[in-house]
Amino acid sequence: MEIKQITDRKNAPMDLLLLADPNRQMVEKYLVDGHCYGANERGSLVGVYVLIKKSSTKAEIANIAVHPDRQNEGIGRKLIEHAIAEAKSLGFELIEVGTGNSSIGQLALYQKCGFHMQSIIKDFFTNHYDEKIEENGIICRDMIRLSKQL
Ligand code: ACO
Ligand code: ACO
Repeated sequence: MEIKQITDRKNAPMDLLLLADPNRQMVEKYLVDGHCYGANERGSLVGVYVLIKKSSTKAEIANIAVHPDRQNEGIGRKLIEHAIAEAKSLGFELIEVGTGNSSIGQLALYQKCGFHMQSIIKDFFTNHYDEKIEENGIICRDMIRLSKQL
């Protein structure tokens, strides 16, 4: 599997990116603000992430997704490890990620990759998303912020 930057914004895989964030406007903003990376296997795109600059010292994984047919095979972990290495090589000191209170699997994955919980943005999803989001039988309301020192 090869992970490399998708430099032409028009080639960004919207279908995959929208799996991670149903708000198209938000996804389009991440693509303007950040760099998109794709994981390719035998000519097909199996995963994607967007790394954005938050400040001179902080980067954020704004969006990460693996093709539904290829989840739970370790591709998400490889993308996160790539993002960590990329952020470090670009000179950032901290990498952040934010996810919903209901995203149990994502919270497990980020912590397995060395991220620590930092804070909660209360009612982030209820205030910013029109559609109700529910996962694992839990309503998604708050954003959990996690970070890892590089
Ligand atoms: N409890 C404990 N561990 C769990 C759980 C759980 N409920 N669910 C998942 N995990 C662990 C697995 O055991 C595995 O750990 P391991 O590496 O020790 O075996 C890990 O989490 C899953 O790892 P991968 O197989 O690498 O993950 P995958 O390739 O499926 O990618 C991803 C994860 C990106 C979240 C994928 O499921 C996906 O695309 N989901 C839809 C989009 C999405 O939700 N994106 C994140 C939104 S937040 C954001 O973008 C910042
Ligand atoms: N993802 C999504 N949902 C989950 C997961 C998961 N990984 N794990 C459990 N759940 C859900 C189940 O789906 C179920 O939901 P449902 O009611 O909608 O079906 C619920 O959590 C489990 O409910 P119960 O069966 O009622 O829970 P149980 O009788 O097993 O009791 C308890 C839970 C007390 C945590 C028990 O497992 C236990 O004694 N564990 C060891 C001691 C412990 O950890 N105690 C808590 C320490 S913190 C404290 O004491 C304040």
